[in-house]
Amino acid sequence: GRPVRVAVLGCGSVGSQVVRLLRDQADDLAARVGAPVELVGVAVRRLDAPREVEVPAGLLTTDAESLVTREDVDVVVEVIGGIEPARSLILAALEGGASVVSANKALLAEDGPTLYEAAAKAGRDLHYEAAVAGAIPILRPLRESLAGDNVTRVLGIVNGTTNFILDKMDSSGAGFTEALEEAQELGYAEADPTADVEGFDAASKAAILASLAFHTRVTAADVHREGISEVSAADVASARDMGAVVKLLAICELIDTPDGQAVAARVHPAMIPRSHPLASVREAYNAVFTESEAAGQLMFYGPGAGGAPTASAVLGDLVTVARNRLAGIRGAGESAYADREVLPMGQT
Ligand code: HSE
Repeated sequence: GRPVRVAVLGCGSVGSQVVRLLRDQADDLAARVGAPVELVGVAVRRLDAPREVEVPAGLLTTDAESLVTREDVDVVVEVIGGIEPARSLILAALEGGASVVSANKALLAEDGPTLYEAAAKAGRDLHYEAAVAGAIPILRPLRESLAGDNVTRVLGIVNGTTNFILDKMDSSGAGFTEALEEAQELGYAEADPTADVEGFDAASKAAILASLAFHTRVTAADVHREGISEVSAADVASARDMGAVVKLLAICELIDTPDGQAVAARVHPAMIPRSHPLASVREAYNAVFTESEAAGQLMFYGPGAGGAPTASAVLGDLVTVARNRLAGIRGAGESAYADREVLPMGQT
């Protein structure tokens, strides 16, 4: 059949792994989609930047805008990150008739509804499994597998950098600064670690998890946020004495109120008993623990970052979106939602 044509925006650690998998898995992807999946362009900031993967020169462009609105592009994969120009490019892609796969947690958490509405209006798919917890399939389970159940609580360790730091403090007795330095040396933490250690990254992910778990709209600004920079070696030691461990948790809850049910979402360091499954999440791994009325407790565990693991989630979305294109349908979107009250600043 006719190929599904894909444009990739960004060729950093995730983008280059997406390009590599499109090339190395071409035959399997074609079989799974039912048509060849053809890479038609890769938008980058600089043509001569060093990359982890070789991209044929004819595919590289610095003109992302023209690429996303090309008439023959069926799917745009956005792995640039940040709010702009990612948002404008995604909106232009949808308006131009392309489906979109994104890994952009900051954008989805800040302005998701604008994107969902644009996708619904265009009749196109917008999938973003890679935006939360990297390789771990958690958004599709919340949106689809658990759609017949009632999720009441989601607890997540959704930031690998802070989990690495807290785990190091727990296992070695190190202080925060020393553990952060080690995380930086090993390449987990950025040179400017603010987004991770102050909980901004986890708060974005909490907003996305709460929106899907409770079929409503929660933005990053609704999430109460406290990071781990004030957690001391003494805090970790006293947790240990109590048989507990300190984790940076994203906590999303459905709460009964006099007027019905409301949603609360917050991110803060929390003590959890060592017997809890989340206590076993070590190093830079992520996990999401859900509680729902019929299924009870579920846990999703795995690598929450990294080029290849994150690219795995992107490719999974790409296969789904490509199949939908060929079938001439639009998959599960976020346009239908219950307008639930969101309690300000995670208040309960
Ligand atoms: N900085 C993030 C983390 C990367 O440490 O988990 C994945 O979003």
